[in-house]
Amino acid sequence: MSTYETMPFHLETERLILRPWAESDAAEFSDLLAERGKGKPPVERIRTSIGELLAATETTGIALLPIQRREEGDFIGYCGLIIGRSTLEEPEIAYELFQRAHGHGYATEAAGAVLEAAVATGRKRLWSTVATWNTASFRVLEKLAFERDHVSMEENGEVVWLTRTLP
Ligand SMILES: CC(C)(COP(=O)(O)OP(=O)(O)OC[C@H]1O[C@@H](n2cnc3c(N)ncnc32)[C@H](O)[C@@H]1OP(=O)(O)O)[C@@H](O)C(=O)NCCC(=O)NCCS
Repeated sequence: MSTYETMPFHLETERLILRPWAESDAAEFSDLLAERGKGKPPVERIRTSIGELLAATETTGIALLPIQRREEGDFIGYCGLIIGRSTLEEPEIAYELFQRAHGHGYATEAAGAVLEAAVATGRKRLWSTVATWNTASFRVLEKLAFERDHVSMEENGEVVWLTRTLP
């Protein structure tokens, strides 16, 4: 059992709302994953994945949350905390947005709210792991005061570990 508070699952920023997954997000989540360029996962499988994400949150108290634009009301991606390559005590921040939503500062805005949510759980440190080619992701993390810590080598290439101490 974790000694940390459960992360708040409803976050609001100037332009965005982050809230828990609904089954009805499956089609758009599948479209988002299709932008990775390895085919579109069946919506049925994504519905199962959403169930698994919700179940994992029950035990960990941390979550990836869908991002909705407040004015347009549309789903543009997700942002949140995951164990990933790290630990429940010092989780990773993660985000992925539709290409049409890139370049408007949304990832930085969403990740800023997730960072505050992490502070609210009592955590003292976050991590993020980024492939060396991912300039946009490095820039988001730089804007949020993450610092490069070390590099690890994986099958698919080099991964940079960045960390952020929380107040
Ligand atoms: C990473 C990602 C979430 C960024 O989303 P976003 O909403 O466009 O990010 P923001 O607008 O908040 O910030 C992006 C910053 O990177 C900069 N940037 C983007 N592409 C760049 C490039 N090729 N070279 C240099 N800077 C770049 C932008 O100019 C911006 O910085 P600025 O505010 O100083 O101008 C988005 O590109 C994405 O979903 N990528 C695919 C999934 C992914 O890589 N996730 C992260 C895995 S670690």
